[in-house]
Amino acid sequence: MCGIVGYVGEKQALEVVVAGLRRLEYRGYDSAGVAVISDGRLEIRKKAGKLANLETLLGQDPLPQSTTGIGHTRWATHGGPTDHNAHPHVSADGRVAVIHNGIIENFAELREELQSRGVELASETDTEVVAHLLAEAMPDSDLAQAMQAVCHRLEGAFTLVAMDPHDPTTVVGARRSSPLVVGLGEGENFLASDVAAFVEHTRDALELGQDQIVVLRADSVQVLDFDGAPVEAKPFSVDWDASAAEKGGYELFMLKEIAEQPKAVADSLRGRLDAQQRIRLDETQIDDGVLRQISKVVVIACGTAAHAGMVAKYAIEHWTKLPVDVELASEFRYRDPIVGPDSLVIAISQSGETMDTLMALRHAKDQGARTLAICNTVGSTIPRESDAVLYTYAGPEIAVASTKAFLTQIIAAYLVGLYLAQARGAMFEDEIRAIMQDLSDMPQKVDLVLDTVEPVRALAQEYAEAGSVLFLGRHVGYPVALEGALKLKELAYMHAEGFPAGELKHGPIALIEDGVPVIVIVPSPRGRSVLHGKIVSNIQEIRARGARVIAVAEEGDEAITPFADHIIRVPETPTLLQPLVSTVPLQVFACELATVKGHDVDQPRNLAKSVTVE
Ligand code: F6R
Repeated sequence: MCGIVGYVGEKQALEVVVAGLRRLEYRGYDSAGVAVISDGRLEIRKKAGKLANLETLLGQDPLPQSTTGIGHTRWATHGGPTDHNAHPHVSADGRVAVIHNGIIENFAELREELQSRGVELASETDTEVVAHLLAEAMPDSDLAQAMQAVCHRLEGAFTLVAMDPHDPTTVVGARRSSPLVVGLGEGENFLASDVAAFVEHTRDALELGQDQIVVLRADSVQVLDFDGAPVEAKPFSVDWDASAAEKGGYELFMLKEIAEQPKAVADSLRGRLDAQQRIRLDETQIDDGVLRQISKVVVIACGTAAHAGMVAKYAIEHWTKLPVDVELASEFRYRDPIVGPDSLVIAISQSGETMDTLMALRHAKDQGARTLAICNTVGSTIPRESDAVLYTYAGPEIAVASTKAFLTQIIAAYLVGLYLAQARGAMFEDEIRAIMQDLSDMPQKVDLVLDTVEPVRALAQEYAEAGSVLFLGRHVGYPVALEGALKLKELAYMHAEGFPAGELKHGPIALIEDGVPVIVIVPSPRGRSVLHGKIVSNIQEIRARGARVIAVAEEGDEAITPFADHIIRVPETPTLLQPLVSTVPLQVFACELATVKGHDVDQPRNLAKSVTVE
């Protein structure tokens, strides 16, 4: 949420910063703004709406040349998406420009304090108070020292990046619980919310820890704690290049990311068996002895990642016989979750920065739980704060709606489940190998779904005017139903809900009326065939009341044919792996429906990727 870029070097800062913002726009698109330093003065341009609006403004009112600059793309929290609430914000004396991601929770009291000293505030944002506080601290100190002093006064989560025209070749950043990474170039350095902003210039980066300040110059990067003591930052290198974050010939990032799923699944499985054909999780640092003592597993995650966790619950319980709870991270720490040293808490997050998940993770750690992150973003906060990490290899996910991350999160959570089963002796080794073999067939099966998905587009067009779409599933098909409904809500802005098929008759069946489209994820008839029989009964119940049934069913499942108005076929797959194929047509359905309705598929309204506020 909110994209931040800072640059100091030899190039034209504006070009570097705007290109970086273009790559970060998925983090927020309520407004965009840039600041450069020229002739000892701050020069700022900012505009409500998407980055394109700012670019138009820059065409009409160009900025002077400068080799130091900062830029911001906003997801509004405090104050509407207007020009005057757009970042950067400047202190009353014009001395400091600041951009911000996160929420300053004590901003109201700081605002009052500033007003009592006669400071006039120009916006409704929490960010602006920081600009004034920095300026007040500046007469006696430089920007980095002022930043230390101000950070001590702030409550909440924040990334701040600021510039002072009196020191025109320096940019200062600070972070607490919100993302900020450093890009290390030759004679130039970068700050950004994520590496996508600078990966076309450098793949060498530094992770910043909690409560740290970074002083960026063209030829040096200094990392300090909030008391000014030097800190060693951990270097890492980005394992993908700039082309991975481009559309590569696709019209939409989402279409590209849907198409990349076979590769993402294959990459996430690669190298997971050792020479003895036992599961190997290199990045896991929890001792097997500790894993043998675990008596419960708790998954914490949000949105799509939580749906991946729900799928994994069925598999991990089946394989390890350990109880698995899946908790929405935003609810977790506000009740009294029963976790302790005998709990393995698995945090699933594509971005590794989702604030709800981070706070739940910290709460679990405070209770003494062992923690493991499943994450797609190297260098992000959630893996850094976990005891162990298993990275997914989906590559950068730019479309706001998650697709390839979901499939790889399921893969990673399954690997953790199999690893637990192996460490605890809960399964025979040949059983584990057989499942690994089934998993290794999945990239090809997902590819097959993609090859045969065209009729789903026609179907989406047919139902574009539906008032609401319901999704039903049983067992692992239930979280798939939830995911299908979420995709439709966020992309097509339609009423959509996912239900366990058996639950419908306990109330929601009242929603069924003539013509309501219901997408049913049909369990394999070859698995627990009782589930198949039950869902056929559920279909009959809704058809009797006028529903139009779209069945997502396995190739060869002819028993379903008489009961469906449309059938979307997916390849034969073991029951627990079915979500890896049955989700894909639902992604395509939502994407197509949103396109038909003329919506911005990659940047849906009101949303942003990487939700760094609670
Ligand atoms: C939905 C979607 C969100 C994210 C959720 C968690 O398409 O993308 O529901 O899944 O915000 O994000 P991460 O995985 O980054 O923690």
